[in-house]
Amino acid sequence: MKLYMISAMAENRVIGNKGKIPWSLSSDLKRFKTITYHHPVIMGRKTYESIGDILYGRKNIIITKSDKDTTKAEILKKYTSKLSTKESQLALQLAEIDSKHKRIQDEENINGLKAQWNPEVYVCNSKEEALETVGGLEASYKNKHDMIPFVIGGRQIYKMFMSMADRLFITLIHGAIPGDVRFPTIREKEFTKISDKMGGGNPKHSYIIFERHAASHLSLQ
Ligand SMILES: NC(=O)c1ccc[n+]([C@@H]2O[C@H](COP(=O)([O-])OP(=O)(O)OC[C@H]3O[C@@H](n4cnc5c(N)ncnc54)[C@H](OP(=O)(O)O)[C@@H]3O)[C@@H](O)[C@H]2O)c1
Repeated sequence: MKLYMISAMAENRVIGNKGKIPWSLSSDLKRFKTITYHHPVIMGRKTYESIGDILYGRKNIIITKSDKDTTKAEILKKYTSKLSTKESQLALQLAEIDSKHKRIQDEENINGLKAQWNPEVYVCNSKEEALETVGGLEASYKNKHDMIPFVIGGRQIYKMFMSMADRLFITLIHGAIPGDVRFPTIREKEFTKISDKMGGGNPKHSYIIFERHAASHLSLQ
């Protein structure tokens, strides 16, 4: 099974501070959505808390040591408590489409809106269980690329899956930023940089992709 990771980190590898991401970069959030859309996303319970909601259009796999049923019930309760706001947002967006007499051609957009009604949440107690869950979801995908899971953080969960990662999508925020959570070390003997492009906007940042050396995979088997 292929597995990817996506993270935004500063040059001192800081990814978080007091439960939040310590910068605001809307272009990176858009990029994150584009890259992870449709895919299973694997996250730690603290990252779920920091996002504050389920990511729609994606299968959310949340790892915790707590009881799975209780955690899932709490997540869904929080989700449905926001539903009335989401319902009105959805109604407004659909009304806007109607009022402009637009045909609904943007299937992805509409499916994204509809997916807000159908949260896909899987709570797991271990790495193995998360991988089993991803394996069980494969049949629901028509497109093989979409079934590749993305590990989206935080540090504890990046560390857990690092030895399996085939590709790392890193947004590198230029400069050092104070924080209390860091991305694990990316070892040069395991990964090669295959792309490095400047992004637009502030703080200054670059989009970097690392790929695992084929030989490094072999040595892990
Ligand atoms: N910049 C970025 O791209 C980015 C991305 C993601 C997150 N972040 C930031 O990173 C921080 C959160 O990262 P974090 O490392 O503190 O937390 P995390 O990895 O998101 O979640 C940690 C939680 O995962 C669960 N867990 C960990 N190991 C486990 C195991 N072996 N078995 C079962 N469950 C396990 C535990 O949940 P329970 O406590 O429920 O048992 C643990 O508290 C936040 O500041 C967030 O904003 C930044």
